[in-house]
Amino acid sequence: LAPQYSEIASRSEIRISQTLKNLSDFSLPIVSAPMDTVTGVNMAVSMHKAGGLSIIHRYNTIEEQVDMVLAAGEEGVIVGAAIGANGDLLERARALIKDASVGLLCVDVAHGHHSNVRYALEVLRNTFGYDLHIMAGNVATLEGFNALSDWGADSIRVGIGGGSICSTRIQTGHGIPTLQSILDCASSDRDATLVADGGIRNSGDIVKALAAGADFVMVGSLLAGTDETPGEVLHTKEGKKKVYRGMASKEAQSAWRGRVSSIEGVSHVVPYRGAVKEVLYELDIGIRSGLSYSGATSIPELQAKAQFIRQTSAGTIESST
Ligand code: IMP
Repeated sequence: LAPQYSEIASRSEIRISQTLKNLSDFSLPIVSAPMDTVTGVNMAVSMHKAGGLSIIHRYNTIEEQVDMVLAAGEEGVIVGAAIGANGDLLERARALIKDASVGLLCVDVAHGHHSNVRYALEVLRNTFGYDLHIMAGNVATLEGFNALSDWGADSIRVGIGGGSICSTRIQTGHGIPTLQSILDCASSDRDATLVADGGIRNSGDIVKALAAGADFVMVGSLLAGTDETPGEVLHTKEGKKKVYRGMASKEAQSAWRGRVSSIEGVSHVVPYRGAVKEVLYELDIGIRSGLSYSGATSIPELQAKAQFIRQTSAGTIESST
């Protein structure tokens, strides 16, 4: 992104808050991914305190997920919950809404531009109406984005194959670089919220995603290894670590459904990083600094002003630390 003339004296002049329809304003436009090594109750509470949102993962029984949402809810936390596009879809959705008063459901599948998702969105809208916020995904194309919006999604996860633990492009040959998908989907004339998802490694990547047209970003690896992620701290010769794994990895599939089909993710250990609030604080100030380099005091202003430049591989080397 080319730096531009700025009159912003302090990062506190910059507002990075964003709204999700029927739900709330969020002072930090970051959503934690519905993965079993990222988002449980502790992550939901800390994300909420930092101004962001969490989606509780669905790799559990309905009772376990309802409990997680109720626990988080007791602390006044606004939280979303993931569901699949078939199987126990309606039963899970009903329990989350009736027993845990969840305000956001996320239809969470790898290939969102699919008849199963169309069916899921139709059933959810017919059963629960339009007061509920429904997120759905993932898609990588403008056609996919428009379809999910037309089928009833309020917000759409954009990005296929870009996740740090993802092997979809290697296993299947499919996917589109996430920044390109954001640019394409942001040209949509639908008013669905765009959630950029996969491959975001630092606050600079968040600024680029927002500048390209994302309203929110969803992240996994950026939060992995913190105290608030589910899972034990491992003591290894190389220091403390935690597991971070793709939900389509062999390890995650065997754990949650006891069988493995197409393996499209990997499992690995990442360094233990302490409290997530420190990570979120650094991201918050990094995003604000990013907006100030483009002379923008809000995300819509960043989107209007941002100037992307192409760089050579020499520039890429110069840009990395
Ligand atoms: P990260 O922030 O780059 O680590 O990517 C996180 C995103 O990767 C999630 O929000 C999902 O969209 C995606 N994802 C999670 N598990 C898998 C997997 O096993 N294969 C492919 N993509 C995955």
